[in-house]
Amino acid sequence: LSRASFPKDFVFGTATSAYQVEGMAHKDGRGPSIWDVFVKIPGIVANNATADVTVDQYHRYKGDVNIMEKLNFDAYRFSISWSRIFPNGTGKVNWKGVAYYNRLIDYMVKKGITPYANLYHYDLPLALEKRYNGLLSDKVVKDFADYADFCFKTFGDRVKNWMTFNEPRVIAALGYDNGFFAPGRCSKAYGNCTAGDSATEPYIAAHHLILSHAAAVQRYREKYQEKQKGRIGILLDFVWYEPLTRSKADNNAAQRARDFHVGWFIHPIVYGEYPRTMQEIVGARLPKFTKEEVKMVKGSMDFVGINQYTTYYMYDPHQAKPKQLGYQQDWNAGFACKTIVSILAYSYWLYNVPWGMYKALMYIKEHYGNPTVILSENGMDDPGNVTFSKGLHDTTRINFYKGYLAQLKKAADDGANVIGYFAWSLLDNFEWRLGYTSRFGIVYVDFKTLKRYPKMSAHWFKQLLERSKK
Ligand code: GCO
Repeated sequence: LSRASFPKDFVFGTATSAYQVEGMAHKDGRGPSIWDVFVKIPGIVANNATADVTVDQYHRYKGDVNIMEKLNFDAYRFSISWSRIFPNGTGKVNWKGVAYYNRLIDYMVKKGITPYANLYHYDLPLALEKRYNGLLSDKVVKDFADYADFCFKTFGDRVKNWMTFNEPRVIAALGYDNGFFAPGRCSKAYGNCTAGDSATEPYIAAHHLILSHAAAVQRYREKYQEKQKGRIGILLDFVWYEPLTRSKADNNAAQRARDFHVGWFIHPIVYGEYPRTMQEIVGARLPKFTKEEVKMVKGSMDFVGINQYTTYYMYDPHQAKPKQLGYQQDWNAGFACKTIVSILAYSYWLYNVPWGMYKALMYIKEHYGNPTVILSENGMDDPGNVTFSKGLHDTTRINFYKGYLAQLKKAADDGANVIGYFAWSLLDNFEWRLGYTSRFGIVYVDFKTLKRYPKMSAHWFKQLLERSKK
């Protein structure tokens, strides 16, 4: 593998998100997000860690961009913290926050690193959660579009690649079905939460995410795109679901899983409606798009970002539809990785299955009209390898990247329209509920001194991405 193995002008970058790397969570005028209160609940985050400082990219961005440049990367996918720009979600602008993103973007441009800006990575302004229950209210649609509009206007002269939301499925399912992520809502019956309704809320939140995405894209296209000459898309997580056996029942179970996972979002965006399976199973609990909304949603992407890490085997549990309603219950399919795959498991959720990436990319190509795809996240953590010396010698991670990149190349060779690849992540950082116990970086961070040390995988990327000097 080398740069030359990939399509012409293929873009290589690394990815992070604001809350996971910036720090300065309560400083320079930033308003709190729903994660700032969520992490303070005792026992929620491993070792009760917070992201108040995390890896301090807010001050160390120059060093981090220099690392990207040294490692021969072309681009950086970062996210903008909504509540750093609008501390109350709407209204008054925090100009110190604006100045920070200007500094970051300007420095990237200076160093020849192309900015890919994502507008939302789980960090809803707390003010909007309090004002109208955040994503459960349709009021969020206009507020998100206004925030997006401000970002296009302010940064769009330099940012030509925009993303609206990162992993709306995770936001809806983890935020409102099992309560694992902020705002931590779910049905009492199976989730132990204090408030929430897993049978309806994930679908409502998702519906508002789709409408917010589409409204932002509409603003971009109407007011900015022609002049700024950029493109805009959304970032979807896509676990590949492989049927456990060749039985029809298992095939259907895997298809249900794909529909409830990636189809939930890409289907409306490409075809203007939810997948049939979802319409049938969720029934009246699934919100509907009005005719006007269909017009706005359908076609609302110039590219789709796919975050692809892993693959699960699915089987039909041969049960009647479970009584307890909830998003996960609705798909009614079992998953069977541990018993079946004799492969390495890293996190509790991450199995090294490179061929799943090939299948996921070909699935998007075949089912959704071969859209422009950016492989916007891929990578692994490395439990056990947390000591400094073990952490630096991350040969397992190199093998992981080798395997997945070979499959990405294969998909590109077979006609998938994939134009870029972003490794998650540049740095070890705040990994949500796992805090600092799970390290995804190709650069090791000593969390005490915040010093950065490129791991072997970083050197591997540097070589891979070397440009032949003519
Ligand atoms: C995402 C992910 C990232 C994680 C990464 C490793 O939604 O993009 O949650 O924020 O850090 O996927 O788990």
